[in-house]
Amino acid sequence: MTKIMTGALMTVLPLLVLTVLLAGAQEENPSPSKKDNSVYAELAKAPKKALARRNPLEVDPDAVAAGAKLFALHCAECHGEMAEGGRKAPSLLADPVQQATPRTLFWILTNGVVRRGMPVWSKLPEPQRWQIVSYVKSLTPAGKPPK
Ligand code: HEC
Repeated sequence: MTKIMTGALMTVLPLLVLTVLLAGAQEENPSPSKKDNSVYAELAKAPKKALARRNPLEVDPDAVAAGAKLFALHCAECHGEMAEGGRKAPSLLADPVQQATPRTLFWILTNGVVRRGMPVWSKLPEPQRWQIVSYVKSLTPAGKPPK
């Protein structure tokens, strides 16, 4: 082998090895596009930062009633008058929603699930979003807040 050929090999070989290594690494890391088709899957995706927030209206006795009005205005059209779900959107009485923390629900409201038809509500002032969260969390399986 001539010196020139050896030189060329020495440059190409490491590149080849690197390419193979990178390709291998990518396969080990399957892209996160693996689909979870549950309509409630999005609830599991709230980032830690969002979960660090507290519902500032947790102890506000009027929050549920105010939230009920806002719900009728903004949400009932899709989720049903009693949040029981409708043709356009799933029930909010279902376990995954009822067991979600207020912060998770606040996060969902703020960000929506736009690609799946759940609008973004970041235009509603934060206190209103928390009122809606308080209302949704107050619902019983029958759909009504306990008296
Ligand atoms: C235009 C119809 C529409 C309106 C209005 C709407 N939603 Fe939704 N919502 C949806 C759809 C569709 C989904 C299911 C999204 C999915 O598949 O993840 C959803 C999902 C949700 C979820 C479950 C989160 C998840 O994992 O998908 C919550 C909680 C929720 N909506 C709350 C609300 C509240 C509260 C309001 C009122 C402020 C509201 N929605 C208004 C269509 C709507």
